[in-house]
Amino acid sequence: MQAVLDYLKQNQASFLAELYDYLRFPSVSAQPAHNGDVAACAAWLVAHCRRIGLEAKLCETAGHPIVIAKTPARAPRGGKPHFVVYGHYDVQPPEPLDLWHSPPFEPRLEGRTLYARGSTDNKGQNFAHLKAVEAYLKTGTPLPCDLTFVLEGEEEVGSKSLSTFLKQHRRELQCAAVVISDTGIPSLKHPALTYSLRGIIAFEITLRGPARDLHSGIFGGAVDNPAMALARLLADVRDANGRIAIPGFYDGVAPLSKFERQQAARYPLSDARLKKLLGAPQLFGERGFTPTERRSARPTFEINGLTSGYQGEGSKTNVPAWARAKITCRLVPNQDPERVRRRVVAYLKKACPPTVRLEITAGHGAEAYHVAPTGPLAQASLRALKQAFGAEPILMREGGSIPIVNEFKQILGADSLLLGLGLPDDNAHSPNEKFHLDCFEKGQRMSAYLWHELAAANPPG
Ligand code: BES
Ligand code: MN
Repeated sequence: MQAVLDYLKQNQASFLAELYDYLRFPSVSAQPAHNGDVAACAAWLVAHCRRIGLEAKLCETAGHPIVIAKTPARAPRGGKPHFVVYGHYDVQPPEPLDLWHSPPFEPRLEGRTLYARGSTDNKGQNFAHLKAVEAYLKTGTPLPCDLTFVLEGEEEVGSKSLSTFLKQHRRELQCAAVVISDTGIPSLKHPALTYSLRGIIAFEITLRGPARDLHSGIFGGAVDNPAMALARLLADVRDANGRIAIPGFYDGVAPLSKFERQQAARYPLSDARLKKLLGAPQLFGERGFTPTERRSARPTFEINGLTSGYQGEGSKTNVPAWARAKITCRLVPNQDPERVRRRVVAYLKKACPPTVRLEITAGHGAEAYHVAPTGPLAQASLRALKQAFGAEPILMREGGSIPIVNEFKQILGADSLLLGLGLPDDNAHSPNEKFHLDCFEKGQRMSAYLWHELAAANPPG
């Protein structure tokens, strides 16, 4: 083990240079113009995995490729325990570009902070695991378990191809647990095991009014304005107490247990600091819950994008022909995504005035994820966190979603160990996304310790 830790210590400079190469690919899964970059990033990963001693292959899919990389010479079944390490090499669109202090795909180091799209979400985090395993392979230190890396290129757009892939490869991916670093920690002094993620439903609403944009002086007042209608339709979804007013929206939502409220209260970020971090004039949310509870354990209805009418320079007097909103709802355990979707659609249809036509297109959906952090593997990962960070880890629920974790459970029967390395101010999905090199290094050590802890907690069988 000392050889592994020494190797990590001695090679930080080259690890960083490699991470730069990884981050230079604009692997934006949502934008077809970047399909070639996504594919090139996958090919680079395969080559990199081979260079560090893994058996790697590129798996084409109907969408973006999946990279599979295994530790060599896996013993026959019943030998060492097998763990899957999941991560994603696709990134969110970098827009708005003018808010970046340096180009999103030209990594820039400032002190110990590395700026680039994908640095924390998720390239930096999955690269930490690759480097830990490289340390075992390059020092000839035997790994106490077999590992398969599953690195996909569609996480940010719903993981459709990976879902199909899991069904086709369920035998070879059979494992004791899936290890994922794609969540956060409150601070470098507070490593964390995340035991719950929110689910999600995505959809788009379009309201259509007149057949074309109209002169608002000649016709305005005699016809409904789709942007005004959409504003009212959406505004009514939330009441003054921050509750979603859609009938049935909260059906089945389990109240927070005493233990969970205690854990949430331990989350070491004060409301004042959160407010400052977010740069908002005030915090806001559902009455009766703390900000930590609101953003991790309560469902939401959010407008992600809102478009209508003239957006160019200067003014233009018109009644727009249509208005559109991109919406996502975050879901919590016991909310069935398709049931919630039906409730939302029924509500919008009923609330929509006859002066506009309503179109709704359904997007992706996923259930929440929740596994009590009491099992032996969860306890083992807490020990690895403590050794790597030199601090007592906390248990937390998080508000983001990793839709594929439910399929790991359903298709492979495996729980996910969510061992995030991102900081709250890492700007994931925002301009100036960043990753702290301490998170990178501690993450490598966490991974190095983890394989022994997990193997010891999971006797072969
Ligand atoms: N890494 C995030 C998910 C995350 C972040 C979970 C922080 C918990 C804490 C992931 O890459 C992500 O952004 N997922 C999307 C999924 C969606 C596109 C289906 C999300 O949560 O918006
Ligand atoms: Mn993301």
